[in-house]
Amino acid sequence: MQKTFPPGFLWGGSIAANQVEGAWDEGGKGVSTSDMQPKGVHGQVIERAPGSTNIKDVAIDFYHRYPEDISLLAEMGFKVLRTSIAWTRIYPSGDELEPNEEGLAFYDSLFDEMARYGIEPLITLSHYEMPYGLVQKYDGWRGRETIELFERYARTVFIRYREKVKYWLTFNEINMALHAPFTGVGLQGERSKQDIFQAIHHQLVASARVVKICHEIIPDVKIGNMLLGAIRYPVSSKPADILKTQSVNREWLFFGDVQARGAYPNWIHRYFRENDITLHITEQDKVDLQTTVDFISFSYYMSGCASAEPEKYNVSQGNIMKMIPNPHLKASEWGWQIDPEGLRFLLNELHDRYQKPLFIVENGLGARDILAADGSIEDDYRIQYIKEHLIQAREAIEDGVELMGYASWGPIDLVSAGTAQMSKRYGYIYVDRDDNGHGTLTRRRKKSFIWYQNVIKTNGGSL
Ligand code: BG6
Repeated sequence: MQKTFPPGFLWGGSIAANQVEGAWDEGGKGVSTSDMQPKGVHGQVIERAPGSTNIKDVAIDFYHRYPEDISLLAEMGFKVLRTSIAWTRIYPSGDELEPNEEGLAFYDSLFDEMARYGIEPLITLSHYEMPYGLVQKYDGWRGRETIELFERYARTVFIRYREKVKYWLTFNEINMALHAPFTGVGLQGERSKQDIFQAIHHQLVASARVVKICHEIIPDVKIGNMLLGAIRYPVSSKPADILKTQSVNREWLFFGDVQARGAYPNWIHRYFRENDITLHITEQDKVDLQTTVDFISFSYYMSGCASAEPEKYNVSQGNIMKMIPNPHLKASEWGWQIDPEGLRFLLNELHDRYQKPLFIVENGLGARDILAADGSIEDDYRIQYIKEHLIQAREAIEDGVELMGYASWGPIDLVSAGTAQMSKRYGYIYVDRDDNGHGTLTRRRKKSFIWYQNVIKTNGGSL
């Protein structure tokens, strides 16, 4: 008997405004933090000089080509498409009193196009970008003012799209603020842990507040958080390695604990004491934090190991953070260790810890594709990766995990967040553009396109 996924399972994919839209200075859009990172999250923050370019300025030109792209995703049978709203299209500097109508109208058209094909939008309010104006004026999320400005933005889009968008996420990979503070919380330069955690605190309060506002404005809505599932295994069975692994995993679970349980976990207070961190937390903040998310969403690409003696190992670059490699796993061309069973483990861990529905909103393989002379792209390695992860997701469902859907990362090739490369491709749809920005931007179906179409058609039965 074919094993299928639950009825109504949301199959689809995920993209983000700054990695696909381009049109960086069109439609009244302001300058975002992403516009200041031409080399991606791992690169330096670079002030824009007149005439300077950033591959994301055009990206894959989704801003102008979205009707074609949505029709291709619909052809695959997508039930859900996750994308983000660029905050700077709505409030260009972040603190205007009135929103930019042209930006609002763009997302109206995009959501209408998705509705024509019955594709549910899953919308991230902030995916690795914020108005650069708020970095300059308020030191990003370090300034308390940013909380209210974010609320203003969120309220505007909840009201405008209340009939069109029933699934929302607050901040993409909120735990990444610890590793990429400019990308996550708009902090420039080398900053103290005190500053980073104060900014994180403000972002957590803002997240909780907009969850509440969202429910007030859209009664039949579901709004979740978004974590980078940075799961680590102990490198050995030494008790010291086990303890170290627990604390390394808590670093990212901290965010889920606050957003799903409504308060700071006890253990973080010891960490704050030992690192001279004294946060300014008001009584009202504590009340606000009690509003928890409806579901937990996360990205999962890889796993890694932790050790009490990390200096003994050669760490390798993973998704934004570095990890000790697991000798039992193979890695992608970019060194990300491939671990499908880790997805089942993670789903079960999150289910046990939070008892909330889960949503896989990013997973996939970044690889160099070869365009054959006849225009075909045989991406069997990508099919293999996604297949193995979906089989483990199905196992987790059998284990009793409530899984709302699966949205693989980059169903259409896009600009890499980490390295700003086009050659690191995730798509079922190929986009003709190289790392220097050359190419016609023509779209082509890869072999995985037909494969994923069949997975969706059979509700996972074909796996
Ligand atoms: C996640 C981000 O970290 O991983 C995405 O939410 C990103 O924005 C994805 O693109 C893959 O990372 P990269 O660096 O390969 O683009």
